[in-house]
Amino acid sequence: MKKQIGNKSKWLAAVGAFALLPATLSGVFSTAVNAADEGQIIPVPVSINALMVTLIDHSAHYLWDYGVMEREITDDEWRTIEYYAIQLAGSGPLITIGGTGAMDNTWVQSPLWKAYSQNMSDAAVLALEASKNKDKQALLALGDVLVQSCESCHDAFKPAAPTEGFEHQPDYDYLYHLFK
Ligand code: HEC
Repeated sequence: MKKQIGNKSKWLAAVGAFALLPATLSGVFSTAVNAADEGQIIPVPVSINALMVTLIDHSAHYLWDYGVMEREITDDEWRTIEYYAIQLAGSGPLITIGGTGAMDNTWVQSPLWKAYSQNMSDAAVLALEASKNKDKQALLALGDVLVQSCESCHDAFKPAAPTEGFEHQPDYDYLYHLFK
């Protein structure tokens, strides 16, 4: 509890500092406003590979792990599933914008790439519905659709070795391996 209060006051201090920097920030904000005016898409500042490892693989594993779990899913766990389904649903469109990886801006131009991203996002929307209905059978079934969406895109586009050598990191596992 104490820790939370400490963090809160740090936040307030940060907000205070923010308020004191209008001159510096106005430049930043006006750039943002210009980009919005021209209908530009804000460039994604990280690679698709990094998003795969930290966001997509990560959120998908929650959906699979809960789907195959033998016991009933608790209400809190359904909330967790909802949370990761939202992340995965949103990451489909995100990976159609591009990124900082060597091939990212080439890949996203392919209609096939967009179709696979859509399939992945659609599967995540099914997980979102399953979480709202607390429907374990639906969650298990859509797991296969989801795997298919990952694998079909990997078969078509993924180089044998990740372009940046960035693979699923063992130290990220503690984030989602709930069922040890
Ligand atoms: C639209 C295409 C597409 C979809 C959909 C997609 N991926 Fe990927 N994924 C890629 C590409 C391309 C790479 C390699 C990126 C690179 O090397 O720069 C990659 C890389 C990865 C990596 C890191 C590299 C590695 O070998 O460990 C993981 C993990 C991964 N994807 C998991 C998934 C999972 C899980 C899903 C489905 C839930 C998924 N991906 C859906 C295209 C896709």
